[in-house]
Amino acid sequence: MDYILYEVNGAVGTITINREKALNALNSQVLDELNATLDAVDLDTVRCLILTGAGEKSFVAGADIGEMSTLSKAEGEAFGKKGNDVFRKLETFPIPVIAAVNGFALGGGCEISMSCDIRICSDNAVFGQPEVGLGITPGFGGTQRLARLVSPGMAKQLIYTARNIKAAEAYRIGLVNQVVSAEVNEAGEVVVSAKDALMAAANKMAAGIAMQAPIAVRNCKKAINEGLQVDMDQAIVIEEKLFGDCFETEDQRAGMANFLEKDKEKKLKVVPFKNC
Ligand code: CAA
Repeated sequence: MDYILYEVNGAVGTITINREKALNALNSQVLDELNATLDAVDLDTVRCLILTGAGEKSFVAGADIGEMSTLSKAEGEAFGKKGNDVFRKLETFPIPVIAAVNGFALGGGCEISMSCDIRICSDNAVFGQPEVGLGITPGFGGTQRLARLVSPGMAKQLIYTARNIKAAEAYRIGLVNQVVSAEVNEAGEVVVSAKDALMAAANKMAAGIAMQAPIAVRNCKKAINEGLQVDMDQAIVIEEKLFGDCFETEDQRAGMANFLEKDKEKKLKVVPFKNC
């Protein structure tokens, strides 16, 4: 892999888009490598993923403008599909994915973060869909996911004006769950950089997810994602099925027995998914 780093620490896997010289812009190779990385995640041991970008300045500054500049209509559509296929894989990935957004999340960068379950960002993050300024629409899901995540009116305003927003505004409109700042000592010196503080916060959240019953967490993701696509009558049926699927699992038996026996420590034991 030239552009993707993947490391596993306990039950948390971290994928880093590593094309720092181009601010981690997404070309076809990055998308292919990200796809292969997701395929290779060991779902028996990893319970939560973190997705981030290399360096302090940029999460992902969008799809690669150089690569797109000479595409024909058909090639443009195929490039959109390539991105959409990988982002959809991320969105429907069996385990939760946290986007740790360090700096620019523009165009395809904002879009990939929206394919993740949860977004947390450093206070220098900048979000936006600047595509109309480049003569194109957002092409990796931005027209669809932004409208669903914030509101249609806010999404239309951001997309039509191509205006970038800072972390505080992204938090205010519900695009991100948490904003993390660098730690500064009494003398005003930075003791923990914004990126390190961001990754610590992302890892803390991921560890908190990873210690929960894994079948239940997976079923929650599926229930929320699939339920949002249908009306409430169908949605509650989806929930009932996934709720029912939790019963008779080792997780459910042990989780409830731990509660009844007042043994909270047992619940924290991480067992391979296949043994749950
Ligand atoms: N594609 C290709 N290369 C990119 C890039 C992108 N999206 N964004 C940045 N880069 C490259 C620059 O070309 C530059 O390369 P060189 O050093 O070889 O010249 C390098 O990254 C550093 O960038 P800048 O010198 O521009 O850095 P800056 O600090 O002055 O500006 C920035 C940072 C504001 C993010 C600016 O780089 C920028 O505006 N980038 C483009 C953002 C954008 O429009 N993204 C949307 C792309 S379209 C899209 O994503 C479509 C879709 O939905 C699928």
